Amino acid sequence: MSDITFDNRVAIVTGAGGGLGRTYALEFARRGARVVVNDLGGSVDGSGGSAMAADAVVAEIEAAGGEGVANYDSVSSPEGGANIVQTAVDVFGQVDILVNNAGILRDTSFAKMTTEQIDAVLDVHLKGAFYVAQPAFALMKERGYGRIVNTSSPSGLFGNFGQVNYGAAKAGLMGMASVMAIEGVKYNIKVNTIAPVAKTRMTEDLLGPLADLVHPEQVTPLVVYLASETCTLTHQVFSVGGGRYARIFLGVNDGWFAGKDAVPSVEDIHANLDTIQDIDDYIVPLSNNEEMALLFKALKG
Ligand SMILES: NC(=O)c1ccc[n+]([C@@H]2O[C@H](COP(=O)([O-])OP(=O)(O)OC[C@H]3O[C@@H](n4cnc5c(N)ncnc54)[C@H](O)[C@@H]3O)[C@@H](O)[C@H]2O)c1
Repeated sequence: MSDITFDNRVAIVTGAGGGLGRTYALEFARRGARVVVNDLGGSVDGSGGSAMAADAVVAEIEAAGGEGVANYDSVSSPEGGANIVQTAVDVFGQVDILVNNAGILRDTSFAKMTTEQIDAVLDVHLKGAFYVAQPAFALMKERGYGRIVNTSSPSGLFGNFGQVNYGAAKAGLMGMASVMAIEGVKYNIKVNTIAPVAKTRMTEDLLGPLADLVHPEQVTPLVVYLASETCTLTHQVFSVGGGRYARIFLGVNDGWFAGKDAVPSVEDIHANLDTIQDIDDYIVPLSNNEEMALLFKALKG
């Protein structure tokens, strides 16, 4: 199998000043990509800011003989997103790869969550991914090539106490990625999503005994693969961490069909819950139309 390389490719990695993003930036550069290392350089809750984090990663890239440029904009505004993409264009002339990775945490229980806490987390993870991806997508579309990797989360997709803001943002990213993937098909823009687990400053106090068994470098190969020309996958979500790589998907079962034009009673719903909930047989629709096809099938008998 030939090596996967990134010669003549330009990658943007947001939040690449530390943790997972740093490992992606280093590996892209090691494989020949020119890399925009974006990082606001704040704390885990998103407060503060410093050029040091992004500068340090660019220095590492350069020390290893690679090419990188730092960008310190926040992903959480349209101007920030546009500047990040413009940095790639100004310095390297194009954008081929975007890894939406920047993230913060503001955990508290649902009952106690403030509007400030939900806004801040949605702004960075969900809207931030949009603000960077939209100008990047436009350039990719023009050139007929692009790879976008989004960062969701197992706690976001499956639920975790105290993270209603994070869950909303991370599940929202999966929905956004589905539509971006569908719209990217005819321009050769592949859009995939990861749900990682790794010991970083964000998670080292949250992972308990798992912390020392999940290294950021174990997530990196999947992200780099999904960002490569070799990767023809799109519209996929992967669970990745500690050396395990698995598919996450949204499926739907055949369900219970009450009959054409039937209006079942509330009691009928109760009586058929087992069939409605059964997951022995299911499909994984990759568009609204594919899900609707199940209904048409039932209606046609
Ligand atoms: N580590 C895990 O187990 C885990 C699990 C699920 C999801 N994630 C996600 O992976 C991504 C990376 O997290 P990490 O674990 O490496 O944590 P991290 O804190 O080490 O990295 C996040 C980086 O994003 C940067 N950042 C924050 N807000 C920013 C903004 N507005 N603009 C630009 N940069 C900003 C931070 O400065 C930081 O360097 C996040 O999206 C996180 O939610 C991580």
